Amino acid sequence: MSRFLDGMARRALFTLDPETAHGLSITALKSGLLPGCSANRDPRLAVNVAGLSFPNPLGMAAGYDKNAEVAAELARLGFGFVEVGTLTPKPQAGNPKPRIFRLVTDHAVINRLGFNNQGHAEAHARISGRRRAGILGINIGANKDAADRIGDYVAGISCFADVADYFTVNVSSPNTPGLRNLQTREALSDLLGRVLAERDAKSKRIPVFLKIAPDLSEPDLDDIAAECLVQKLDGLIVSNTTLSRTGLNPDPKTAEAGGLSGRPVFERSTIVLAKMRQRLGADMPLIGVGGIDSAETAAEKMRAGADLVQLYTGFIYGGPLLPGRILRDLSRICDRENLTHISHLRDQKTAQYAALDIPE
Ligand SMILES: Cc1cc2nc3c(=O)[nH]c(=O)nc-3n(C[C@H](O)[C@H](O)[C@H](O)COP(=O)(O)O)c2cc1C
Repeated sequence: MSRFLDGMARRALFTLDPETAHGLSITALKSGLLPGCSANRDPRLAVNVAGLSFPNPLGMAAGYDKNAEVAAELARLGFGFVEVGTLTPKPQAGNPKPRIFRLVTDHAVINRLGFNNQGHAEAHARISGRRRAGILGINIGANKDAADRIGDYVAGISCFADVADYFTVNVSSPNTPGLRNLQTREALSDLLGRVLAERDAKSKRIPVFLKIAPDLSEPDLDDIAAECLVQKLDGLIVSNTTLSRTGLNPDPKTAEAGGLSGRPVFERSTIVLAKMRQRLGADMPLIGVGGIDSAETAAEKMRAGADLVQLYTGFIYGGPLLPGRILRDLSRICDRENLTHISHLRDQKTAQYAALDIPE
């Protein structure tokens, strides 16, 4: 697909409401009509993290492929890994529509979907019945009405252990009331203890990552880091969407409730990432997400401390050619900076970002 056609398709999608456009993009991917990314197999981009071999460090973040319908097709676009979900044990409708809003001049989105998904059984059957391509992460959460929320995460590990390359424990969606309280030290200790015990009971050791919010105080970060180290967690994903509305261009939609993603969350999530790198030390795998829409922004996350990166909102604005473009430009950054491997970017600016205050 030429850049021109790609731009036309995106303009057409933007005339539709965001959730309809999202559904159409999934249908287009399923149709197989979208072009694959011409293989970028630059060995300088291949990374080993948490015992897994990633062909490149760029992943699709959770929320795009909630029901594990197009993971292989996303891998074909160039993504080195795809995180599906968030999946909850029971199917769930989520919040009333409309519940996704584009803030076009900010290249941002506000969503309050509320974990709409088809549930464990359906997603598991779909994944099991399809040919696998690339590294597959399963992002797990709790049903809104769960009597035992932690039990829902344990059920996620149990259900998907035979198909997951890694798990993400999502405690940071702002759209399930009270979910973010699982980030407090006591709750996190209980949650990670039970989740990791379930993982350890399986024959294969599957890495478990924790995904946190960018709306945390320094003492919150101290507590989370301490718990991650005590529990020997396999990695941390920083971050989910923000509740902050600071610095947005004027637009009535900025008043919509929900989590904000895209360019305006870049700085906040990168500062939190760097602060967590400092707290967790050099060996803990960190995945940076929030506002990435180019090789430069991906590289900056690595400079702040990320081993891997993910994006979602950038894909809404950048389209299906974006992952291939980012990979090509990451190779160019390696050329320009004389890097024998992309991981040499890591931590070049950790101290600089970590010294900044988390914005209001
Ligand atoms: C429409 C939408 C739905 C999302 N759903 C989920 C989700 O189900 N689980 C999750 O962990 N994160 C979810 N996210 C958050 C993203 O995975 C990501 O952490 C966040 O959007 C910041 O990255 P970005 O700026 O590249 O979008 C969602 C984001 C958007 C925009």
